[in-house]
Amino acid sequence: MHAGVAAQARRADLRKPRRHTMHISLRQLRVFEAVANNHSYTRAAEELHLSQPAVSMQVRQLEDAIGLLLFERLGKQIVATAAGRELYYYSRAINRSLSEMEEVMESLKGLNRGSLQIAVASTVNYFAPRLLAVFHQRYPGIGLRLDVTNRETLVQMLDSNSVDLVLMGVPPKNVDVESEAFMDNPLVVIAPPDHPLANAHQIPIERLAEEIFVMREAGSGTRQAMERFFSERGLSIRHGMQMTRNEAVKQAVRSGLGLSVVSLHTIELELETRRLVTLDVEGFPDRRQWYLVYRRGKRLSPAASAFRDFVLSEAAGITAPPGSSGKPTRA
Ligand code: PGA
Repeated sequence: MHAGVAAQARRADLRKPRRHTMHISLRQLRVFEAVANNHSYTRAAEELHLSQPAVSMQVRQLEDAIGLLLFERLGKQIVATAAGRELYYYSRAINRSLSEMEEVMESLKGLNRGSLQIAVASTVNYFAPRLLAVFHQRYPGIGLRLDVTNRETLVQMLDSNSVDLVLMGVPPKNVDVESEAFMDNPLVVIAPPDHPLANAHQIPIERLAEEIFVMREAGSGTRQAMERFFSERGLSIRHGMQMTRNEAVKQAVRSGLGLSVVSLHTIELELETRRLVTLDVEGFPDRRQWYLVYRRGKRLSPAASAFRDFVLSEAAGITAPPGSSGKPTRA
C-alpha cells in the first residue's frame, strides 16, 4: 500500500471509538521516549538494544492503546504529532519519577550496597579517578560509574535526571540545580619552554593579544572562561587550531602551534618534566571553582549523599593542584 494511504487507513482505524481504559506499559513509554529523542526508530533500537521491528511494534501498540498517531514521517525524520508531543511531556515526568523511585528503593539498602552514577566534565577527569579511588576504599559495597563527557551532555543528564551527581566548572542556568563549590580551579596560560615569553615577568595581557591561541571546542567550560577573561578586558583572542581534548591542546602548544589557557589540574606532569611552562601574565591564574551539581529537589540516595559530603569536605585535600590553596575561594 502507498505510505500516505497506509497512514490514512491507520488514522481512520485509530479514530474508531474505544470505551476501554488505556492499557499502556512503562516499557512502551520508555521506547516511545527513545524514538522521540532520537527522531528515528533505528537509533532508538540501538540505544535500547532492541531490534528495529520490536521498537516499531511497541510504538504501534501504544498508538492502538491511546487511539492516536504519535509520530509521522517528515522526509527521513520521525517527528512527534501533537498527541506525541503531549505524551512526551507526561512520559518524561513518569520516567523521572520512576528513576527517583528506584533511587529511593536503592537508598533503603543503605551504604553497604547500591550504586552511584557520576558524570564529569572532561577536565575533571584529571582528578575524578583519584577521588573515586579513595571513596571506593571507604565504601567498597557501592558500585561506581563514571561518565566523562562534554558540558552539553552534562546539562542534558541533569535535565533528564539520569545521573546522581555532576562535577563541572559552570553550573547550568537553564536547569534548576543545586550547586556547591568544592575546590579551586586555577586557569593558567601555557607555552612551550623555549617560548620568548617563558622567562618574562608580569606580562601585560595586551601582549597576549598578539599571540595565536590553541582553542578548546565551543562547549568547553575552559574555553568559555578564557573568552570571558579576554572580552572583559576589551581584547579579542587570535584563534589558532581547535581541539576537543586537553591532551591534544597540550601537544599542540608543545609543538609550537600557539599558546593556550588550561586548568592547572591538567598539566601536573608537564610542569614536573618541564615539557610546558606557565606564563606569568597579569590577571593569571584566573581563579575559577569546581562545582558539585544535582537537580534541585532531587532526593539523594545515601550513596550520593555520602559522595557529596566526601567531595565537599575532602576533595581539595586529596586532589588540589600544586600551588593552589585547594579550598574554594567563596565569592
Ligand atoms: P571543560 O571543563 O573545559 O573540560 O568543559 C569544564 C570547565 O572548566 O568548566
